[in-house]
Amino acid sequence: MEKCAIVTGSSSGLGLEITRSLLEAGYVVFGGSRSGTEVEHENFYDVELDVTSEESVEEFYETIREFTEKVHLVVNNAGICEMSPLSETSSEAFEQHLATNTLGPFLLFRGLEPFLVKDETHVISVLSTAARFGYPNVSAYTASKFGQLGIIESLKKEWKDHRLKFTNLYPGAIDTPLWDKLGTQFSRKKMLKTSDFMAVFDFVVAAPANIQFPEITFLHRDGYLE
Ligand SMILES: NC(=O)c1ccc[n+]([C@@H]2O[C@H](COP(=O)([O-])OP(=O)(O)OC[C@H]3O[C@@H](n4cnc5c(N)ncnc54)[C@H](OP(=O)(O)O)[C@@H]3O)[C@@H](O)[C@H]2O)c1
Repeated sequence: MEKCAIVTGSSSGLGLEITRSLLEAGYVVFGGSRSGTEVEHENFYDVELDVTSEESVEEFYETIREFTEKVHLVVNNAGICEMSPLSETSSEAFEQHLATNTLGPFLLFRGLEPFLVKDETHVISVLSTAARFGYPNVSAYTASKFGQLGIIESLKKEWKDHRLKFTNLYPGAIDTPLWDKLGTQFSRKKMLKTSDFMAVFDFVVAAPANIQFPEITFLHRDGYLE
């Protein structure tokens, strides 16, 4: 039987590599993003998605429903990050982080319930070490990831009877296009490569059905970015 996966934020960085890897592993993949995903594959569906919009998330699921009623793997990955001292962070920037990184997963999970497969669906969330502790100059990002974690932890209990697998990934810095937009002086050499992230991701996805990894924190061997 075909296994279906959803990947949010499939157009860039980790989401793009996750999409390619899942297609390679034989999944039918529904990738969601605002700008579209440059992947050509017979099992790939490029679906427009703005996770901050209730209407867009509903349309995303309506499109998926035309193909399947079962989702076996959900990769909750879409996210934004900006850096600025709290005193220079606008309310709009703060709200945009909450809309994308907190409300987004909330809407994604709310629409997902009819597609869950008991004893099977695996929900993988790409959180961040910033969902566990604070870094300077990312108060909005940190708040939004802590909030996302709260939703997931609540949902694990709420959906207990579905007997799903949940994996929360807490990576440190990874050299993706996200850092191009930030324009910081941090050395890319002290960041994980996307391929490092994928080694962990692929391991989690390929693990036998009876194994669950609730939480994985991983970072560059040189430690946290300072
Ligand atoms: N890179 C790191 O150092 C790092 C470390 C820890 C955790 N993470 C997390 O990893 C995830 C992926 O980040 P990345 O590094 O791959 O960044 P990226 O290259 O900037 O990709 C971000 C993805 O999120 C999507 N996205 C953003 N806003 C969206 C919206 N409103 N609706 C739908 N999709 C949206 C983007 O697609 P569109 O713009 O096309 O919509 C894009 O595909 C994020 O959750 C991030 O917090 C990253």
